[in-house]
Amino acid sequence: MALDVSPDGRLASASFDNSVGLWPGPVWLEGHDAAVTALDASQAPAVLSGGDDFRVLLLHPELETPLEITKHKGKIGGIAVDATSDRIASASWDGSIQLHYVVKFLATNDMPVPLDFRTFELLGHRSNVTSVGFAPNGTLYSASSDGTIRVWEGPETGTTSRVLVKHGFGINEIVVTEDWTAYGAVDGATRVIDHDGQQIADFTLDRRPILAMDYHADTGQLAVGDGHGYIMMIDTAAWKITRDFRAMRKGPVWALAFSNDGAIIHVGGIDDVIYAWPVALLDQYDPAGGDARSFLRDAASMPNGERQFMRKCSICHALEPGPSRKAGPTLHAVFGRRAGTVPGYRYSAILDGSEIVWDETTIDALFDIGPDHYIPGSKMPMQVIAKPSDRADLVAFLKTATKGD
Ligand code: HEC
Repeated sequence: MALDVSPDGRLASASFDNSVGLWPGPVWLEGHDAAVTALDASQAPAVLSGGDDFRVLLLHPELETPLEITKHKGKIGGIAVDATSDRIASASWDGSIQLHYVVKFLATNDMPVPLDFRTFELLGHRSNVTSVGFAPNGTLYSASSDGTIRVWEGPETGTTSRVLVKHGFGINEIVVTEDWTAYGAVDGATRVIDHDGQQIADFTLDRRPILAMDYHADTGQLAVGDGHGYIMMIDTAAWKITRDFRAMRKGPVWALAFSNDGAIIHVGGIDDVIYAWPVALLDQYDPAGGDARSFLRDAASMPNGERQFMRKCSICHALEPGPSRKAGPTLHAVFGRRAGTVPGYRYSAILDGSEIVWDETTIDALFDIGPDHYIPGSKMPMQVIAKPSDRADLVAFLKTATKGD
């Protein structure tokens, strides 16, 4: 499972089926023969992906067949692109890192797509390489289940490495910034070190392993996800834990990705569902996931409207009457109802006293242009359902499923 948000705000997701989704859409990008385990969407609409099939692919909606950048001898642990888009690093469980220098681009409508590479193999780790990251100045960092973080420096043909950290246990994730590197390990260690390897902060709790991390530079938030389904939010200006809560009812937090404004955190867990949680409201949610009706199990048999609801709404909205512990108000009897009128639910100012009446047209419009435009200031996260037929199916499903009696 992997998630990444592109500079233009698209979410790329990979889960246990072999495809990569680009949202809103989704646009499905195919090419892998096994689960996709690593993603980088910094070059969207081109997406770099690595999988259990050992391959690193460049997927692009305009490329009929994906471009294979390389094939390692083991599963791909991580992919990173440097700030200038000139180099791509791929890390593998075969113990190697490959550094691919882009030598030729393909011009497309959106953005040039790298087409040809000069590849160098970086050896040094003694076990699986699990994560790679470029510092803003271009220095490459890598983490491994050998328990070390290495720093790679030097010219194309003479890159050498030194050990920055020796941690007794395998390291799963790193985040590299201008001033520090954060890492999460198998034993639950969650630490931040400076570029000399000196510890800045230690946020280790009693949960392990650490499986996911993401950093939002503008707001200074570092998100950490673990095997117990918790997300911890760290304010890196004050080096303080600001939130620590259980996000998943069952199973781990596999992947995390902030939206570009830092207001939403996307979370991937065991179900084939991506949750988008407003960061400011995080601790008000019930844990998600692990429902008897997992999307993965029912997807094939579910009519499209229900699938839309399960995927995009059910995490926050109940369909039954009465109070609900979900983040949004129940949608029971929503048709014909004035917005902002479920008794006992605390709406935002924009919905409280709103003139909108919910019906086919207004619910369709809500997700045609997105809540952030339709009801600006609302607590509902921005989300657009691009396809008119998906919106129609969703509305049709809601009409039956929310019927008042
Ligand atoms: C991450 C949580 C979240 C998701 C996902 C979400 N909503 Fe909401 N929704 C909310 C919240 C919170 C509110 C209340 C907004 C406010 O008070 O500003 C809301 C309000 C609404 C309302 C207005 C209800 C009323 O009583 O006025 C409708 C209709 C609605 N959502 C439909 C949907 C549909 C349909 C989907 C799926 C396509 C969806 N929502 C997905 C959180 C969510």
